[in-house]
Amino acid sequence: MSESQQEELLESVAFDLIRVESFLEKELTTGSEDFNRLIAPLSSAGGKRLRAQLCLLIACAGQSDETERIQIAAAVEMLHLATLIHDDVLDQADIRRGETTIHCKKGNKVAILSGDYLFAKAFEIVSRMSNMEYLKIFAHIITCLVEGEFMQMEDVYRLDQGIDRYMAKTQKKTADFIEGCMELGAILGKWSAKDTAVLKKYGHALGMAFQITDDIMDYRETEATTGKPVGKDLREGLLTYPLLSIVNEDTYDFLHKTICNIHDGNERDLIQYVINHGGIDNTLVVEKQYTNMAVHALKELPDFSGKTFLYQAVDALATRKV
Ligand code: IPE
Ligand code: IPE
Ligand code: MG
Ligand code: MG
Repeated sequence: MSESQQEELLESVAFDLIRVESFLEKELTTGSEDFNRLIAPLSSAGGKRLRAQLCLLIACAGQSDETERIQIAAAVEMLHLATLIHDDVLDQADIRRGETTIHCKKGNKVAILSGDYLFAKAFEIVSRMSNMEYLKIFAHIITCLVEGEFMQMEDVYRLDQGIDRYMAKTQKKTADFIEGCMELGAILGKWSAKDTAVLKKYGHALGMAFQITDDIMDYRETEATTGKPVGKDLREGLLTYPLLSIVNEDTYDFLHKTICNIHDGNERDLIQYVINHGGIDNTLVVEKQYTNMAVHALKELPDFSGKTFLYQAVDALATRKV
């Protein structure tokens, strides 16, 4: 693929993203002043727009209808924001995208309603489309995600949950969403069934690596870089790969005792313990397996002008801080 073709595609995606932002702004202006004041700053507060970008890139690389792809990409970001608002209630997080979370500003009732509105709005937009496949994918994303959040809730403080369970939750919470965005882009862009399957495989692997990186960030980043709380997973009893990978006969008693008292604000000591026992190194190995899987999927695809961006999305995980 020539460089000019690549540039042209990235320009189309950038142009589409501007239109996605305007569409979001328009659609998220409601009759409720309170809602408008709360959602507008959060919606435009610097989310990475990863899901929308993946969907637009794949759609633009094929033969897609402009209005449909912009509306689908905007609905994807609405759905994502809805899940973040509800997730912050579940995780009792006080900061998101660098802003005070809605439940901290206005309480759980307002946060739940705001998330519900965004869910409904996303589905309203998608239900206007003639192709029912979009609706099925949106519904699938959200059922998987809620199932993943449920599993996570059942597993709080459970040291014996096992790595397979962590992987299953990670897939449901995050990878299925990113895979869904690839599929949406592929349907919009009229990709062949064979290539769509490979794009989904890439989405799955990227999504797994993305959540695993997010879980590492909770151990070693700061609130200033991530725009969300750090150390919070442990404080809430959410045991992720770094810790689960070091559970053994020698560490069990210490981990059990520390986790039982984690509310006392001793998560810094626990983080250091996990790091000293190789928890982050173990996690980086698994993350690498998923990024390799994503790269492998890309090699199965025919050459197209968006491939470089998909490689870059994988590479960016190694230095991800937000
Ligand atoms: C946050 O997603 C939730 C996870 C799956 C870790 P993002 O990191 O994509 O959040 P924004 O949209 O950039 O804020
Ligand atoms: C992913 O998990 C969240 C959703 C599925 C919405 P996290 O709870 O780790 O995401 P952050 O860290 O709050 O963004
Ligand atoms: Mg969370
Ligand atoms: Mg997280």
